[in-house]
Amino acid sequence: METKLFSKEEYGKAAAILKKGGIVGIPTETVYGLAANALDGEAVAKIFEAKGRPQDNPLIVHIAELSELDDLVAFVPPVVYDLADAFWPGPLTIILDKSPIIPDEVTTGLDTVAIRMPSHPVARQIIKAAGVPLAAPSANTSGKPSPTTAEHVMHDMAGKIDAVVDGGPCEVGVESTVITLATRKPKLLRPGRVTPDELEEVLGDELIIDDAVLGKLKEGERAASPGMKYKHYSPSSDVKIVRGSFVGFVDFVNQRAAEADGVAALVFDGEESKLDCKTLLFGAEGDDLAHASKLFDALRTCDDEGIKELYVRCPSDEGVGLAVMNRLLRAAEYNIIEV
Ligand code: TXA
Ligand code: MG
Repeated sequence: METKLFSKEEYGKAAAILKKGGIVGIPTETVYGLAANALDGEAVAKIFEAKGRPQDNPLIVHIAELSELDDLVAFVPPVVYDLADAFWPGPLTIILDKSPIIPDEVTTGLDTVAIRMPSHPVARQIIKAAGVPLAAPSANTSGKPSPTTAEHVMHDMAGKIDAVVDGGPCEVGVESTVITLATRKPKLLRPGRVTPDELEEVLGDELIIDDAVLGKLKEGERAASPGMKYKHYSPSSDVKIVRGSFVGFVDFVNQRAAEADGVAALVFDGEESKLDCKTLLFGAEGDDLAHASKLFDALRTCDDEGIKELYVRCPSDEGVGLAVMNRLLRAAEYNIIEV
């Protein structure tokens, strides 16, 4: 199949493909999504095929207006309207009990469904023009870092999907914050641009943070969110987080670069001149928003340039840094070197 590349002005062509049961890469403010009509199980099944996605990992349903929510879920708890007021449209996904119109292909048989209202103007135009909610996971090959540009999507999906709409680079750069309201107390399953502190301003101190956000699932432990059990965000290079002083980092990495080929470092802006290897930049130290927006592109660059070992300066896990660390820990398979 030839994968068409549309400009953002051509969103109507993407919507037409979606209406006919096709699958299209679309920009959102977080990462690019691979969209299909969420009410068409056959169309949704094509997403799993194109991504090589495990059949037990459910998808997020994207809406453009709050009025679409009622039909998709069994019941809307009042707090959803408070969350929507504060964070929608935007990078928050809310899990609720599903209504019967959601096909099993979307939820992989669960009785809950994840809903998000993206803020990206092109995503909103596409949803409105398609006239249906859109199921969309991140538009990467399963196990690879999520795509933050149309080129990333083409890299993984050319020949496998109908089209990609180029909406420019994604502003946030990490996937949405996921919370479930289908449990007794609200629970954060995946950190993102909307931070736990921001959620608590709406939810009070009720919010529980799932152990898997920064910890590794224990052998045999059931994941609250199926996506959390997979090795994710993973470039082919061997990624390791290095925690400690910058001097310690420089000593460690420069020694490694003297011993081996294909060593690179992901460092904060301005630190690159001290390193005797290829460097990638992570934004200024402490700039959690910059780290989030640069992480996946850096991991993909590693792959494209055949880097074998990537050493990453450990960022703070405060604020949006929690999302950055959550993704980095998975990319590094929880390997942290202390220096
Ligand atoms: O920012 C985002 O959320 C992007 C853009 C495209 O919207 N989408 C995205 O989708 O990251 P995906 O499929 O890569 O991640 C969805 C996560 C997975 O970890 C999945 O397991 C979880 O949400 N999820 C979806 N439905 C769920 C449900 N009913 N219960 C628990 N977890 C669910
Ligand atoms: Mg994903």
